[in-house]
Amino acid sequence: MTSPADDRPVRNIRSFVRREGRITAGQERALQELWPRYGLEAGAPLDLAAIFGRQAPCTLEIGFGNGDSLAAMAEQQPECDFIGIEVHRPGVGRLLQQLHARELDNVRVMREDAVQVLKCCLPDNSLDRLLLFFPDPWHKKRHHKRRIVQTGFIELLSEKIRSGGCLHMATDWEDYAVHMLEVMGQSPDFRNSAGDGNTVPRPDYRPVTKFEQRGQRLGHGVWDLVFERV
Ligand SMILES: C[S@@+](CC[C@H](N)C(=O)[O-])C[C@H]1O[C@@H](n2cnc3c(N)ncnc32)[C@H](O)[C@@H]1O
Repeated sequence: MTSPADDRPVRNIRSFVRREGRITAGQERALQELWPRYGLEAGAPLDLAAIFGRQAPCTLEIGFGNGDSLAAMAEQQPECDFIGIEVHRPGVGRLLQQLHARELDNVRVMREDAVQVLKCCLPDNSLDRLLLFFPDPWHKKRHHKRRIVQTGFIELLSEKIRSGGCLHMATDWEDYAVHMLEVMGQSPDFRNSAGDGNTVPRPDYRPVTKFEQRGQRLGHGVWDLVFERV
């Protein structure tokens, strides 16, 4: 099957399962009351300058989880704009609470499948940085096809990240880090900042995430991979 717009295969396999989980009254209220201020709907191409009311470097975080690290980065980098995409409703609600409490105006939020957003809503060359921190590892071999990092996904990212921009991934699953390095090694559009096949220590700007902390408690290692869009 191919998409109508081009002849790239349509990837129908999702990298997530929609689980509602427990949502607090505060998160539910934030979804109701704060969505009009911070939420973006998918559908039409996004006009980033109009959305943020300025021209500024734009970072997209895919799968922000509970949003704590996204809120921290946005607070530390007021000169940058941020879009966060997450499908998990309680996490979205929690991020909205944080944005409101910290009075952050440089973040917008989408509750969608990031792959669909990339395909339909983000203009080419619109991103300065794409962050993918601890994507679901789908560690069983029969589930590897659900991993978000695949050749087609990286091709899509290469269209959206401007030349000189950056793709930063992190994982606590060594096998997934190896998979990421293999997929990226085949892309002519990205250059590994640490040299082919290498990872980097956690850059200062990346907060330790909730999922990462859980991995640390279980004794997992952490691998950060930073690539430049050539
Ligand atoms: C393992 S969690 C990591 C969360 C967070 N980055 C952290 O480190 O704490 C991965 C997250 O990615 C989200 N996710 C997976 N695939 C996604 C997609 N295609 N679009 C948006 N979110 C996605 C999941 O809902 C989940 O919350």
